[in-house]
This record gives sequence, structure tokens and C-alpha cells, in this order.
Amino acid sequence: MSKMIIDTDTGSDDAIALLMAVAHPDAEVVALTTVAGNVALDQATRNAKTTLRIAGRPDIPVFVGCDRPLVYPLETATEVHGDDGLGNVHLPDAGIDSQPEHAVLALVRLAAESNGEHDLITLGPLTNVAAALAIDPDLLTRFRRTVVMGGAPDMVGNVTDMAEFNVWVDPEAAARVFVAPGERVMVGWNVSMTAGLVSPDQRKAMAELGTAAGQFAHDITSVVEAFCHQELGIPFFSLPDPLAVAIALDDTIATRTQSIGVTVGRSAEARGATFPTHLQPDAPATDIVWEADAEAFQAQMFAALSALP
Ligand code: RIB
Ligand code: CA
Repeated sequence: MSKMIIDTDTGSDDAIALLMAVAHPDAEVVALTTVAGNVALDQATRNAKTTLRIAGRPDIPVFVGCDRPLVYPLETATEVHGDDGLGNVHLPDAGIDSQPEHAVLALVRLAAESNGEHDLITLGPLTNVAAALAIDPDLLTRFRRTVVMGGAPDMVGNVTDMAEFNVWVDPEAAARVFVAPGERVMVGWNVSMTAGLVSPDQRKAMAELGTAAGQFAHDITSVVEAFCHQELGIPFFSLPDPLAVAIALDDTIATRTQSIGVTVGRSAEARGATFPTHLQPDAPATDIVWEADAEAFQAQMFAALSALP
């Protein structure tokens, strides 16, 4: 059983990733922590709850976190995910209360309670995790490992030429997370654009599964599909967060990895870049995923969407 805490800025791909984690027979989602990123914090929190309601799991506790990056003003990605972050489906409120404990304090507490058994999965800017590290510098050592959706280790970004969104939004936070002690996996934009791609026909197949989860996954990805087609000029769309959760739940999906240090660019020119530190062999290492099994990822995603109500 993989017990996991998921930190999310709940856009459309985050939502599908959450459905996959909740549906997986060998996973137990202990808690969600929300962070500003794709959308403002309130919307990210609302979307996380909507997703839990669709998944039939309103019991999973939701802890609300940081509403802006450590240093920079918040930059959202509503052009990618829709004004509501979920493909402009504007679903009604899920009727789930947030936990009273701040997400940063919850991360510190849950890490201490983890006894090395829980995985921390991060799907958004790393603001909450960095703030928790300021309280407990050994935070990540208390989890079994931390799987980070973020970074562009091949220096091919999605926000700037070299920076991926989650790291670019809060590079000061990411810089702290990538040098903290603890086991860490990077599922970056590089592998999201190879193994994490989904075709329009596969999106249609989501709606044809006959489940509310499949219909939801189809409906919320209309904007990201159009964005990828128009802006990236590709006949597919990328689902980075679902790929990260798939890898967190099945290590075999990551078919080629490299253990190496990662430095985060913090200058204006290099903001949010993630440089593998080839010349610093003693740097705190991250397992960078360079190649992954697209078919296995999609099989896990469709199995989850089929298994949910
Ligand atoms: O760059 C892709 C990442 O940024 C994904 O996590 C997406 O949801 C956004 O948060
Ligand atoms: Ca995300």
C-alpha cells in the first residue's frame, strides 16, 4: 500500500492525477494540501474538493496552503486550464470543509507521523513544501520519497525557453526543495512531452467509459487540448501530473532515470531553469526521469477512470 500526501494547484491535469491516486487499489491518499499556481488558492482548493466529490471521496482531508509564491507575485495558468482551472466547467461547490490546520503545518505534522511510510507527491509550485522545510529542514527525510512534477532537465521549458511552470512560478521554493536532504524524483516537462501525451481520440475515449470520472476528465481537458493544439502546434495534449502520479504508483513506468544534483535558476534570465549539476558529484541528488512507458501510464489512467463511479 502506497500512502501518499498530494500537494496540488488543482488545474485540469492535477484533477485527473487526483482521480488516479484515489482510484488505485494499492494507494491510500492520506491528505491533500492546496497551493496557488494554475489558479488562485481558493479556486485550487475548490477544484480539489470538486475532484474528491466526483471520486466519491469527500472524506479525504484538504488542508489549505500558501496563496502566493515566496518572493514573486502569483502567475496563474488559466490560459491553459480555463478560468476555473477545470476547463471552464464551473461545477457547483462540492460542500466539503477545509481542515482548520494550515497546509504547511499539516505537512510538517504528517511528515513526522509518516515514519518513512508516506510518499509526498507535489503537483504544483513548491511553496508549501519550502515553507514546511523552513520549519523542519529534514522534512523530506521523513517521507519515503518526494515525487515532484516539475522542472525541465533538458532545458526545454513551457513558460520560458528553459523553465517549467511549477518551478518558474516559485523558483525560490524549488531551489530549497531540490537541495533538501531526502529521496526525490523529478517528473519534468521533458518526459511529460513524450510519455505524458494524450490524443484527441483518447480524450474522447474518456467520455465513452460511462463513468462520471471519465466524463469529468473529458470535460475538464477541453481547454488544455485546445491550448496544446494552438500554442504548441501538437495534435496531442500533455498530462504531466497524471504521469507523475502514475510513476509514483508504479516505479516501472519510469524506464530511464538519472541520479544527479539539480540547481534551480534564480536570476532573471534563468528564472526557474533546472540545471542538472554534472560537475558537482556531491550535490544532493534527485532521480530525474528521462524516459517513461506511455502505454503503461495510459493503462493506469484509464483503469482509474473506469474504476471510479
Ligand atoms: O508545467 C506543468 C505543471 O504546471 C503541471 O503541474 C500543471 O498542472 C501546472 O501546475
Ligand atoms: Ca499542477
